Amino acid sequence: MNENYLTTSHGAHVGDNQNSLTAGEFGPVLIQDVHLLEKLAHFNRERVPERVVHAKGAGAHGVFKVTNDVSHYTKANFLSEVGKETDMFIRLSTVAGELGAADTLRDPRGFAIKFYTEEGNYDLVGNNTPIFFIRDPLKFPDFIHTQKRDPRTHLKSPTAMWDFWSLSPESLHQVTILMSDRGIPATFRHMHGYGSHTYTWINQTGEKYFIKYHFRTNQGVKNLDSSLAAKLAGENPDYHIEDLSNAIEHGDFPSWTLYVQIIPFEEGLNMKETLFDVTKTVSQKTYPLVEVGIMTLNRNPENYFSEVEQATFSPGNTVPGIDVSPDKLLQGRLFAYGDAHRYRVGANSAQLPINAPKATVHNHQQDGSMAYKNVNGSINYEPNSFDGTVEDEQAKSTNYKVTGEVGNYSYNDDFYTQPGLLYNIFSEEEKERLTDNIVASLSLVENEEIKKRQVEQFYKADKDYGERVAKKLNLKI
Ligand code: HEM
Repeated sequence: MNENYLTTSHGAHVGDNQNSLTAGEFGPVLIQDVHLLEKLAHFNRERVPERVVHAKGAGAHGVFKVTNDVSHYTKANFLSEVGKETDMFIRLSTVAGELGAADTLRDPRGFAIKFYTEEGNYDLVGNNTPIFFIRDPLKFPDFIHTQKRDPRTHLKSPTAMWDFWSLSPESLHQVTILMSDRGIPATFRHMHGYGSHTYTWINQTGEKYFIKYHFRTNQGVKNLDSSLAAKLAGENPDYHIEDLSNAIEHGDFPSWTLYVQIIPFEEGLNMKETLFDVTKTVSQKTYPLVEVGIMTLNRNPENYFSEVEQATFSPGNTVPGIDVSPDKLLQGRLFAYGDAHRYRVGANSAQLPINAPKATVHNHQQDGSMAYKNVNGSINYEPNSFDGTVEDEQAKSTNYKVTGEVGNYSYNDDFYTQPGLLYNIFSEEEKERLTDNIVASLSLVENEEIKKRQVEQFYKADKDYGERVAKKLNLKI
């Protein structure tokens, strides 16, 4: 006999789940049918707000294994010795689309990792591109508005998109990557991942290094051409989620090798304009990639909502030996994510199994909606005289000097050198596809001024770049 009884959420067995309780065979439904009321009411509450960006994504569990000794650069315990393994969870996503959007749209891809280290969670919340569209957090909501729907028509607006980009020349580098072949990865498995910002590593003796993270896919980079991507968007909008899940299901575990570029701290302070500007890359000739370890994804989530939808990642979640940098965009992000989590998942989102660290949590934050891990005992304050919590010197953030006058600063107006260099790395065929992709989108803009302003940006990066786009648009500059 099956004793797997259906119950209410309070554990009482349910006698009838097919017919509601009515007054007589054809009578009205009774309010005393508590099971019906609970079921309908809970259903109404099944959704939490989708992420305001990166709403659509896939998640997977895995393991990170150190393959190279980097302990002289960072005291982070999870990187302390070759062979050390740390459980992790990744969420891979598109940026602009809603929860049900197609996976194969031209868009950057999110690459967010949570390492469950012995010293607490370390979150690395990056993208599949080494740079970003803007470099000041003040511009983020405006930028995202142009990527999302027009408030009047509820349609995507190429005009808003190119208007904003053409007026924000710092976006040119990322726009060039987005419109290139890499703008539509073949799958989540076939793309690199980047921390994008500069971060700081600190070793046991307090020496500091600026570092840039690069996850290189061991599946090789593969991309989709625009027409196949459009076809797939119609045939299978969940193509990327399905691909990742199937690969893991069949034991074909995808992996990435993590490398870092390491820039000595003082040297880094002399190249602030590049290092703290997320629209710029740092030369790999000068600062070559140093291997750190391998990340392998080996387990699918059991439940999408619990593990993927409710997962929360924040660039502010760091561990001793790893710190942020003065990059303005990163600084803005340190506020934005925790705030989003408190709104989207709740004040106690960090207590959920997917977000909770494996390390002991012992602080005096308490109560609030759905708190179920309040610390036992009476000592809910620090400092205290009763063997309660104490601070750890090792975890103090590292000092460095800042000077200057308060102001709204703009810096380094060279928006064109790096996009120009990138353009010239592309082969003839790649340049053709890049400019075709740009024109397919830019030609949807009716305002001639916007088109001209954007084409001027391409010209400033490289004459041929500008000329190709202008020619394909039949535009006289
Ligand atoms: C998600 C804000 C720049 C990568 C999010 C979310 C917010 C946000 C509010 C939703 C979080 C949630 O609901 O859980 C911002 C702001 C930025 C910024 C204000 C600039 C000031 C960036 C950059 C990157 C990035 C530069 C990559 C280098 C991601 C990723 C996610 C995300 C991967 C999805 C995380 C997940 O899978 O849960 N961002 N973002 N963002 N952002 Fe950003």
